[in-house]
Amino acid sequence: MRHFVYFSSKAVTSGKALSQGNLMKAGRMDIAIHSFIQGVFLSHGFRDDVKFHFIFYGMPDPPKHIEIQVKPDLEISKKDIATLIKKILYKYRKGEKKEVFSGCFVEKKSFLQVIDELEKQGSEIFILDKRGEDSREIKIKDNSVFIIGDQEGLPKKELKRLKKIATQISVGPKMYFASQVVAIVNNELDRRKL
Ligand SMILES: C[S@@+](CC[C@H](N)C(=O)[O-])C[C@H]1O[C@@H](n2cnc3c(N)ncnc32)[C@H](O)[C@@H]1O
Repeated sequence: MRHFVYFSSKAVTSGKALSQGNLMKAGRMDIAIHSFIQGVFLSHGFRDDVKFHFIFYGMPDPPKHIEIQVKPDLEISKKDIATLIKKILYKYRKGEKKEVFSGCFVEKKSFLQVIDELEKQGSEIFILDKRGEDSREIKIKDNSVFIIGDQEGLPKKELKRLKKIATQISVGPKMYFASQVVAIVNNELDRRKL
């Protein structure tokens, strides 16, 4: 299993907020969606060995953790991920980790809590950062977690805490789009047959 954690400080946190206006105005939900597409879609299928986690801290009801693993019975189209996220957010229920569709969960959980839980399950944690160690030189085990920031990067306070348990890795000398980083990491893991 591979885990991608995409953090966004502005992505909206209710179905209603996502149904109003365009995706760019919904806290750059377009970037979250591009990253998700690179995370789970292949040319002729899906990556069923990926769990994609969105952590959204935008208005009106942060934080929200949405977890998606594509299962055979999930109806999903690359052309309409916004509707999938919107429906998942609409079905959020206070106090629950709710499975809205097969493999799709929503709950109220902070960024650090999500990472703590993954670490407790035995996953190794990597923060994607241009100034990190070269990812090609790093040993990576199955079940690893890759944390990627939005257009604003990762929040300073959380980053300070995360650095104590995570390794910062770089996929190259340029500042890439979050979605490009997800594609590069997937490719690296494919090559390593992980
Ligand atoms: C568009 S970048 C964020 C730019 C933001 N202004 C900053 O300074 O962090 C989105 C995310 O992609 C990841 N990223 C971008 N370039 C990278 C690189 N060369 N190596 C590893 N991760 C990278 C980081 O996680 C970053 O938070």
